[in-house]
Amino acid sequence: MSARSFDVLIVGSGAAGLTAALNLATSLKVGVIAKGKLSEGATGWAQGGIAAVLEEGDSFDAHVRDTMIAGAGLNKQAVVEHVVSEAPHAIARLIELGVPFATENGELHLTREGGHSHRRIVHVADATGWAVQEALEKAAAASANITLIPDMVAIDLITGRHAEEFSTSGAVHGLYALNRKTRRVDALTARATILATGGAGRAYLFSTAPRGATGDGIAMAWRAGCRISNMEFMQFHPTCLYNLEVKNFLITEAVRGEGGILKHPLTGHRFMPDYDERGELAPRDIVARAIDHEIKRDGLDYVHLDIGHREPEFVKEHFPNIYEKLMGLGIDITKEPIPVVPAQHYTCGGVLIDMHGRTDAPCLYAAGEVTQSGLHGANRLASNSLLECLVFGEGAARHILDHWDELHAPPPIRAWDESRVTDSDEEVVITQTWGEIRRFMWNYVGIVRTTKRLERAKHRIDMLRQEVRDYYAHFRVTPDLIELRNLVEVADLIIRSALHRHESRGLHYTLDYPKLAKEAVDTVLVP
Ligand code: FAD
Ligand code: SIN
Repeated sequence: MSARSFDVLIVGSGAAGLTAALNLATSLKVGVIAKGKLSEGATGWAQGGIAAVLEEGDSFDAHVRDTMIAGAGLNKQAVVEHVVSEAPHAIARLIELGVPFATENGELHLTREGGHSHRRIVHVADATGWAVQEALEKAAAASANITLIPDMVAIDLITGRHAEEFSTSGAVHGLYALNRKTRRVDALTARATILATGGAGRAYLFSTAPRGATGDGIAMAWRAGCRISNMEFMQFHPTCLYNLEVKNFLITEAVRGEGGILKHPLTGHRFMPDYDERGELAPRDIVARAIDHEIKRDGLDYVHLDIGHREPEFVKEHFPNIYEKLMGLGIDITKEPIPVVPAQHYTCGGVLIDMHGRTDAPCLYAAGEVTQSGLHGANRLASNSLLECLVFGEGAARHILDHWDELHAPPPIRAWDESRVTDSDEEVVITQTWGEIRRFMWNYVGIVRTTKRLERAKHRIDMLRQEVRDYYAHFRVTPDLIELRNLVEVADLIIRSALHRHESRGLHYTLDYPKLAKEAVDTVLVP
């Protein structure tokens, strides 16, 4: 085993992790690890943009109100106000770093998305995330104080239990990680550790999220003793491309923002006004449930999203990537409707943090989609997520810099012990279990839930958790096994949280408790 030490260790090289790194690197040595390539997180996949109050006539109050309406009473107002008021600064910082946001007549072009009462979304055509990821990565690579380490898969956080001199302080001193190149487990230590590992969308069969969204940070924090909150609030994006070959390709909400209409594929009926007066621009949970209802009622494979009535030049200019991708599949979106279905998209719940990104464990911070910060409540407003990454990434860094002397220097750590495990002789267990989880999570813990379905899912996850624990105890770790171990843990947290909520609120909709409870209460699971 090799050991490396940093001032601060960051797990994740997306918007949250790299923002934290850039802010820390002014005076500290920072290590940033990613489990594959640096750009493989959800950040690079973001299409629509980043929400910020920049339009004349818009106001912080309006952005706060829209965020809280979407969040269905569970947002923490102070957090929402903080994030919304920091948004213009976060955008200015990205512009400084070279992100080429779209402009019109010399001003930032602002697009519109569901749930927003104003045009508020800055974007780089329909590939905003890629431009943000590129700019952050370039700046991080140029910093002498940042070491970027791809292909390093975090396994577990290091606490006093792993110290040569056993301690029960609960403080986190870094982590054990599997180096994909050497296939050895390294101990990476630091005075502060930041989890910026993204979401857990891959717990579901259909998801717009990248392959690595297996909830690793949530599971690691849970095992290290941190509380996890609101995991029942899984966001389903209404419009993922339906195509038998290309799975998981998002059709940005900005298509609806710029006039895209949802239609029944057999009758051509525009159905959204039947469900909500805001039509296609109602918040995501409402649109996704409406599509789900149309599909299930009429036995459809998909519904249509039609932007063909807009000028072809406008469509090509605003959605060049979607246009090209779909042309390649034989769909000319300037003339034909796009077949779409809802798919899991965003994890609203996660590691419980305070305003400074602090978790329950001393010296452990978290930022971005891995967290439950209080910003999103029961449903995230579109394009508030990258914003959360930027604001909390910077906030966590600031808190670490301001409280450096209070953080614990890491003690000598025990080496990873592989003396009682062997190489696996049946990898098929991993693929089989993974597939099983994703299928029953989709069918039993999806857009519309019932207690009976959730109990079925609970029964299955209990069994699979035990199997994966046994497997983990006997075999040497591989990237797939690490992810599967986290995925079963996170699926269990989602199911338990969903069973716990006896009401329908935001993204959690159950036929057994269709009404809203009087009091809005977070679900908080304590390890
Ligand atoms: P990510 O960008 O997901 O990065 C996670 C990082 O953690 C990766 O580097 C990964 O390698 C690393 N990691 C994970 N586990 C481990 C481990 N065990 N060991 C080591 N490293 C690990 N939001 C918006 O606000 N606007 C949008 O327009 C928008 N569009 C979206 C479109 C799509 C298709 C998707 C999927 C999401 C979209 N979102 C959007 C959501 C937004 O992109 C994400 O919430 C956000 O990018 C998350 O950033 P992050 O930094 O928290 O994590
Ligand atoms: C989209 O472009 O529709 C995604 C926006 C988001 O997830 O915030």
